[in-house]
Amino acid sequence: MSLNVIILAAGAGKRMRSALPKVLHPLAGRPLVEHVFRAAHALAPDRIHVVHGHGGDQLRARFENSPWPLHWVEQAERLGTGHAVQQAMPHINAQDMALVLYGDVPLIRSETLTHLLELAAERGLALVTAKLPESFGYGRILRSKSGAIEGIVEEKDASDAERSIHEINTGILAARADVLARYLARLRNNNAQREYYLTDIVGMAAKDGIDIGSVSPHNEEEILGVNDRAQLARLERHYQLQQAEALMAQGVMLYDPARIDVRGELITGSDVIVDINVVFEGRVELGDKVSIGPNCVIRSARIAAGTQVAAHSIIEHADIGPDCRIGPFARIRPETQVEEGAHIGNFVEVKKSSVGRGSKINHLSYIGDAIVGSGVNIGAGTITCNYDGVNKHITRIGDGAFIGSDTQLVAPVTVGAGAVIGAGSTITRDAPSGELTLSRVPQQTRPGWKRPVKKERK
Ligand code: UD1
Ligand code: CA
Repeated sequence: MSLNVIILAAGAGKRMRSALPKVLHPLAGRPLVEHVFRAAHALAPDRIHVVHGHGGDQLRARFENSPWPLHWVEQAERLGTGHAVQQAMPHINAQDMALVLYGDVPLIRSETLTHLLELAAERGLALVTAKLPESFGYGRILRSKSGAIEGIVEEKDASDAERSIHEINTGILAARADVLARYLARLRNNNAQREYYLTDIVGMAAKDGIDIGSVSPHNEEEILGVNDRAQLARLERHYQLQQAEALMAQGVMLYDPARIDVRGELITGSDVIVDINVVFEGRVELGDKVSIGPNCVIRSARIAAGTQVAAHSIIEHADIGPDCRIGPFARIRPETQVEEGAHIGNFVEVKKSSVGRGSKINHLSYIGDAIVGSGVNIGAGTITCNYDGVNKHITRIGDGAFIGSDTQLVAPVTVGAGAVIGAGSTITRDAPSGELTLSRVPQQTRPGWKRPVKKERK
């Protein structure tokens, strides 16, 4: 039985008060609906039908090159959840299994869904229901004395007695497509909201003697939807804490699990230490014994074993070798490669450069479009002048070179291996290996020179 997932995402998301469609708002760095795609994808579906509203272009564009088998279905008019599901049905075979998910319920777990699908295969129809302390606004599950599901009543259509029921409909359900299609065709909108309620299929199926299955989620957050920014923030914190707990379980030392944000994928070796307020984005790999100081941002980077990144450093799209020392206050920009044992110190910016083994750039420098050999020492205040206003040029610094402080290397330029550049030089031509090169206005002393004095007023 092949699986078709239907994701409802036609809501306008007005309460977000945003120009961005609700399901594109990020949770842990990924659009809400992408979390749903990932949970669905884990079930190996044939297709994922996304029911979107008017103007779904932004949504489609965002996932144009995605790895998931997405199929876009427009619901031109928002006539209810039943009507939304109906839009996808012509694309689903009667003998398939259908799973209905919501684009704004991001933390649903594939384990819960697997369980739901097993039950739906057996029974024909199964729901995810939950017992919530606060059930206001949800559809309530009606059960017979023997506990069989008899129907769902929406908040707005419910009697006082029905409103006191704590078991709620999460909205997530799975059904054999033929069963779903049969009851969808019979939906009417004679209710408080004049909508075609997907939930009405449950009562009809029960009447026909279908023994409707139900599963409950592992935790409440799994089934919570996002309607406004406060709810989004709540789920973000929950998700981050879950990730922090998973990292600690793997042996990562987090100084405060409430003060780490992982917006992507973090892969860690053993005995990794992460201080407070660190943000990881994209795919980040940290080798054994890497330590990250407080207030760092690390984006799409690989940091090899034993490297220490000190406070307030930013590393993006870079590859840092083992046993390096980075920061505090270092900025490592994309396409940078730092080799074993190198030091990049405070207020040093490195862009699209390679820094060889054991080289040191410890203070206040800009190194861009440079190829720095091994064992190089770059003094404080060194600048590679890589940009002439139109093009970028390369600076090459050979192994063991020593660049005096406050040097400008005007690219394209090469400093040979073992060369020494005198402090304060502006280097515009290649500096030969093993020699001292400097460009410096000779120092003068004017003996007997007097400082000017203020003229006296008459
Ligand atoms: C729905 C359920 C309710 C359940 C609750 C869980 C129905 C009738 N009620 O109520 O039992 O407790 O979800 O949150 O199903 N959508 C469309 N097209 C439409 C209408 C809705 O795509 O025409 C999408 C929305 O974008 C949203 C989801 O379906 O993601 C739920 O719609 P919403 O109107 O919020 O349903 P509720 O009234 O909350
Ligand atoms: Ca509604």
